[in-house]
Amino acid sequence: MTSPPHAPRLLHLPDEAATEALARQLAPLLDGRAGMPAGGRIHLSGDLGAGKTALARALLRACGVQGRIKSPSYALLESYKISSLYFYHFDFYRFSDPREWLDAGFRDLLRDDAVVLVEWPERAGDVLPPPDLLIALEYAGQGRDAGLTAYTARGQTWLNAINTPPST
Ligand SMILES: Nc1ncnc2c1ncn2[C@@H]1O[C@H](COP(=O)(O)OP(=O)(O)OP(=O)(O)O)[C@@H](O)[C@H]1O
Ligand SMILES: [Mg+2]
Repeated sequence: MTSPPHAPRLLHLPDEAATEALARQLAPLLDGRAGMPAGGRIHLSGDLGAGKTALARALLRACGVQGRIKSPSYALLESYKISSLYFYHFDFYRFSDPREWLDAGFRDLLRDDAVVLVEWPERAGDVLPPPDLLIALEYAGQGRDAGLTAYTARGQTWLNAINTPPST
């Protein structure tokens, strides 16, 4: 992965409500409501249980996804569509062979005009391009720390629009 242009922005998320508040800030930037072109790619890293799915689910919910939002840990991919916007939620924890990825045609889904959320991106090796934004989650007491790193101008614009700490 190319080196990011800026140091990570660190946020403390004391509870899941704070994670949801961060998701509510990001959602309008991703789905076009904030006036930017809809779409973008977010990588979610962190240990088992660090809160990757919780954040992805809160994001999808805040973008208007209704009904059950399953973790893609078994299926590798769950997808959604709201009006003309596609959402792809990947989890590469069980991913082993890059050919699996190519054969499945997943690369075609990494479009700039779709919202792509990837858990365990490091398991995909170097088949993934850098994201717009990397969110690295870590355990911090009862809560979590989130390190946000922009890899593109789009990701930097999102970072600039996020308040610290996310208001609940
Ligand atoms: N900011 C937070 N503070 C405390 N607990 C949180 C926070 N965000 C999420 N959680 C809790 O942490 C757990 C996170 O589980 P989750 O399935 O999201 O982890 P994950 O990173 O996706 O794990 P996996 O690698 O297995 O997919 C949930 O029980 C959730 O309620
Ligand atoms: Mg998960």
